[in-house]
Amino acid sequence: MNTTIERTKAVQPDYAILPIFSQRFSPYAFSSKQVNTEDLRACFEAARWAMSSYNEQPWRYLIARAENQEEFDKIVSCLWDANQAWAKKAPVLALGFYKKSFSQNDKPNKAAPHDLGAASAFLTVEATQRGLYVHQMIGVDPDKVREQFDIPEDFEPHTAMAIGYLGSLEDLQALPDGYADRDRAERSRKSQDEILFSGQFGKAASL
Ligand SMILES: Cc1cc2nc3c(=O)[nH]c(=O)nc-3n(C[C@H](O)[C@H](O)[C@H](O)COP(=O)(O)O)c2cc1C
Repeated sequence: MNTTIERTKAVQPDYAILPIFSQRFSPYAFSSKQVNTEDLRACFEAARWAMSSYNEQPWRYLIARAENQEEFDKIVSCLWDANQAWAKKAPVLALGFYKKSFSQNDKPNKAAPHDLGAASAFLTVEATQRGLYVHQMIGVDPDKVREQFDIPEDFEPHTAMAIGYLGSLEDLQALPDGYADRDRAERSRKSQDEILFSGQFGKAASL
């Protein structure tokens, strides 16, 4: 059964944007289909070319494919239970880290988590363009990451992400209770009037 059409949930944006942004979403059900190396490399290449404060490029990722079971399970064990439940079925998992200080002068880099987020967003756009889906997670136990992997002191384990192809309706139904509803939930966003101001904070922008 081809279930791709039923599984998509593109939204109608208020203003015309690149379709990739309205089509992308964070699925809970992934296909077990492997992701080819070229596509994976391209995703992280896009991350690599993200902008960052002082071009520090504070992001680091630690990746495992499901077929490399030992490494994959180690990443799974670092996720909160609520994320393990669905993420363990994705074909690729990655942990996201940021370097806490600037390499140049050891001063704290306030922009580091922001820049990790920017890199992950770039990665997500490239993935989407390639027919892949990304579901990011903050539900990660940093202490567990440090325990499982030898993380240098100046790096903060911060996020994780699942990468893969969209799961079928069968994959969706195989998830534990509640996750299918979350996967199918309508994508909603605040209006521009709630996030874009002019004159004073909270006053909808007049452009
Ligand atoms: C930094 C970040 C952390 C997130 N953490 C989690 C998480 O721990 N568990 C989860 O199920 N979803 C997580 N999400 C997914 C968000 O819930 C999702 O992006 C949001 O609801 C919007 O839905 P959409 O991505 O489908 O548009 C995270 C997303 C981001 C960007």
